[in-house]
Order: sequence, then structure tokens, then C-alpha cells
Amino acid sequence: MTARAKILLTRRWTTEVEQYLMQRYDVTLNTSDVPMDAAALAKAMTEYDVLCPTVTDSVGAAVINTPGARVKLIGNFGVGYNHIDIAAATAAGITVTNTPDVLTDATADIAILLTLMATRRAGEGERELRSGRWTGWRPTHLMGLGLAGKTFGLVGFGRIAQATAQRARAFGLQIAYYGRRRSAPEIEASCQARFVESLDELVATSDILSLHCPGGAATHHLINRERLALLKPTAVLVNTARGTVVDEAALAEALAAGRIAAAGLDVYEREPAVHPALTGLENVVLLPHLGSATVETRTAMGMRVARNIDQFLAGQPVPDPVA
Ligand code: DGY
Repeated sequence: MTARAKILLTRRWTTEVEQYLMQRYDVTLNTSDVPMDAAALAKAMTEYDVLCPTVTDSVGAAVINTPGARVKLIGNFGVGYNHIDIAAATAAGITVTNTPDVLTDATADIAILLTLMATRRAGEGERELRSGRWTGWRPTHLMGLGLAGKTFGLVGFGRIAQATAQRARAFGLQIAYYGRRRSAPEIEASCQARFVESLDELVATSDILSLHCPGGAATHHLINRERLALLKPTAVLVNTARGTVVDEAALAEALAAGRIAAAGLDVYEREPAVHPALTGLENVVLLPHLGSATVETRTAMGMRVARNIDQFLAGQPVPDPVA
């Protein structure tokens, strides 16, 4: 394959990246910018050399193994790739790439934003004011949780978790983390982070529990009803990872019953659907998967996909292989 390879972007990207790709390749844009269903993705597998999906596309084994498939590279727009069946892609000889690094800061910013909003009850306050229910300042009005000296527990300690921990330090938070493997001493030192031996211990001792593990079968409902019950009644849960990591129904019950203080969520089990029990609660901040949503970051993500495509089509090793 050389220039003018056929490439499909399943959603609209920033103009800068679309133009970069269109100057080099035969690019098809999904002009309606609505998610593609399995049938459309299967058809695309037979028509393009490169498929560029996002988290809104389910690229499972059936899609990958479409008879007559010609796709040789799946260049995912995003760092998380649990929506792609990597084993099936590998078996089919398809290279899969993602976009690490470039969205680390933006996503860490959103984790801190959710932490601040949930602990300081910012959503509740804004709703109160906008609805005309604010009656003025008073000493006991919408008191939240102070951060200095509290324990900020991170589940998973990859790039985004580390960037979040460094920001959290600036608020005087004490950093603790749990991961399948303990991080190198220099990484712990750069975040002033303490390793906790078990997830249950981290859950039980954190004032804010922030999730940073990948999605997929291995982490499905990692934060289940039993683990939610381990949290302190004053604890705040923050999720910028994947919605499937948390049992949303059990979380809604815990929040409604006041068994935990609050939550800040950017991701959901069945996006774009949000559990109906959550949307009626005051003590949860709900963002629409904005982790990487800055102009700079979304352009950098697109250019990272483009770099993988350029290298792949030039017969060179891709910079960001996940399979
Ligand atoms: C990511 O990059 O994983 C974002 O969540 C969007 O997919």
C-alpha cells in the first residue's frame, strides 16, 4: 500500500487533522457524525485499508472477521481500546494503534475538576442559583469536604493517574495508589505516592477514590456493591476511566442513601445513556465524557493517529501499536 490508501474516519475530527489526512490519502468522512452500527462497520471493513474508530464504535470479532475484509490497520482515535477486540484483530493480521500520552494532561485536569466540583458541591450550588433558590450567604450553606491532608487514592497508576496525582499534590492531598504492579521508586517519588497492597485497603482508606484503570472484562464492576460499602461515608468517587469499572446501579443506591458523600463521573456503563437513578441525584457531578475534550488535545490525538497511518503505509513500524 502507498499513497491514496482508502481511509475511513468514523466520526468528524478537527479540521487541521482531516485536512492533513485528505492531502495524503483517499479519506471518507462520516459527515452525519453519528455512531456507525455493526452493519456499517462490517461494510467499512471490506471497503477501506485503514479504519479509524473511536470509543463510540464497537469493533468486535464479528466486524473484524467480516468476509472479504481488507482493513489492515485500525488506527483508534483514543487511548482506551476496550471497544476493539484485540485478540480477533491480531488473529486476523490487523495492526491496532492508539493515542497515548497526548491526552494525559487534559484527562488529569478533568479528574481534578470532578474532584473539586464533587467535594465543593459546585453542581448543586450552580443549580440552586440558576433556579432562583439561593437565599444568600449563611455559615452552614452547602458545606463541602476540604482537601488539604486528605487521602487521594488512585486505582491504576499509569500516565493519567500520575499526572492526576501530581496535580492533587498541589491541593495538599496525600497520594496513595493501588495497581497490579508497584511502580518504580522514581515514579512514586515524582508523585509523592504511597503504594497500598490491596484494592480493598485503598478503597477503605481513601477520602477521594479516583479510577484510572483500563476498561474491559478484567475491570468490569471492579467497584461493585461490596467495594462501595467499604468507602467512608464522607468519601467521594471520581471516574474518568471507563464506566464499566463501576456498578452504576449500586453507586446510585449508595449516593441516594448517603452511604458515600458524592461522586464525579465523566464516563458511563452504557454511553450515552446514564443510569436514570443518577440524573436525579444532587450529590453527583455528571460530565459527558469530556476527558480529552480540548482543541489542542483532540488535534494532537488526530495527529497521533495520522503518524501511525503514515508509518504503517510507508511500511515502517508504527509508533503506538496495541496489537
Ligand atoms: C480515550 O482516549 O480513551 C477517551 O476516553 C476517548 O476514547
